[in-house]
Amino acid sequence: GLPEYIKIVEVGPRDGLQNEKVIVPTDIKIELINRLSKTGLPVVEVTSFVSSKWVPQMADHKEVMRGIERHPGVQYPVLTPNLQGFHSAIAAGATEVSVFGAASESFSKMNINCSIEESIEKFEEVAKSARNMNIPVRGYVSCALGCPYEGNITPAKVAEVSKHLYSMGCYEISLGDTIGVGTPGSMKKMLEAVMKEIPLSALAVHCHDTYGQALANILTAIQMGVSVVDSSVSGLGGCPYAKGATGNVATEDVIYMLNGLGINTGVNLYGVMEAGNFICTALNKKTNSKVAQASFNT
Ligand code: HMG
Ligand code: MG
Repeated sequence: GLPEYIKIVEVGPRDGLQNEKVIVPTDIKIELINRLSKTGLPVVEVTSFVSSKWVPQMADHKEVMRGIERHPGVQYPVLTPNLQGFHSAIAAGATEVSVFGAASESFSKMNINCSIEESIEKFEEVAKSARNMNIPVRGYVSCALGCPYEGNITPAKVAEVSKHLYSMGCYEISLGDTIGVGTPGSMKKMLEAVMKEIPLSALAVHCHDTYGQALANILTAIQMGVSVVDSSVSGLGGCPYAKGATGNVATEDVIYMLNGLGINTGVNLYGVMEAGNFICTALNKKTNSKVAQASFNT
């Protein structure tokens, strides 16, 4: 049957904002995170400790990390591609980090400037330092359902990279449909392969909605027992190194669907809609959440 509880990982402040052309003021980012923190979300991804030459929007990572209010019971992970990022994250007060690899060689090169094998070595260094400091590490696998440069990616490759991340100590593996090309069919095949290598309880899905398949893909994953779902407030988002990648699935839409299924998330839908309204007003954008559109129109 379906899981009784689903953990929502809010990635809006990071994945949602990283692709915005105009630099969002630091105090707006902090305010967004503070608002999201009050909605019952168990995890709010804060920022990325990456090169500001590569992702200018995340250049204020230290200030954002230092500036947020931390709510008890909320985890605040940050992206760290290598030891340099890990050390600056810890110095800025991060207590959880995420490494991010890919199941596609071309995407790995374009996104983090190294091969999959080299990335695994860098992540192992991060994982080792993190273990010594009792810092939990999450692992992402991008291009799990397709690559913007290579097209099809085999489920076997996704399983292989996931296994590397899990073996080095990542407590959770988030399977990213970076460009939103997956369907319930490809999601099922990919998960079947990954589930042979990794316990179901350690898997998360991270769906972008480029082709409008995200909710269907998430439903497929939770029907297979996945109980962690990444999403972004207002459906903001995209990856700067994946052309055409639109926003992540909207957090509001995921919660609405899960509420309808009687699945507990502990998240207040209205609170997330208000946080979405705040960031969309600040960005002068229309929300990508269908639920927010419908609710604010009536
Ligand atoms: P590099 O140029 O190969 O690194 O970048 P390097 O080790 O050769 O160092 C070169 C320069 O980068 C040096 O500075 C380093 O100090 C600096 P310089 O001496 O030239 O002034 N550097 C760093 N600066 C800040 N933080 C660091 C860091 N490391 C080195 N951690 C690097 C390698 C990974 C840093 C670079 O390629 C990068 O920043 N890439 C951006 C990756 C990124 O943020 N992508 C978007 C997030 S991933 C995503 O969205 C997908 C996901 O959502 C899941 C999905 O949807 O599939 C997670
Ligand atoms: Mg993403």
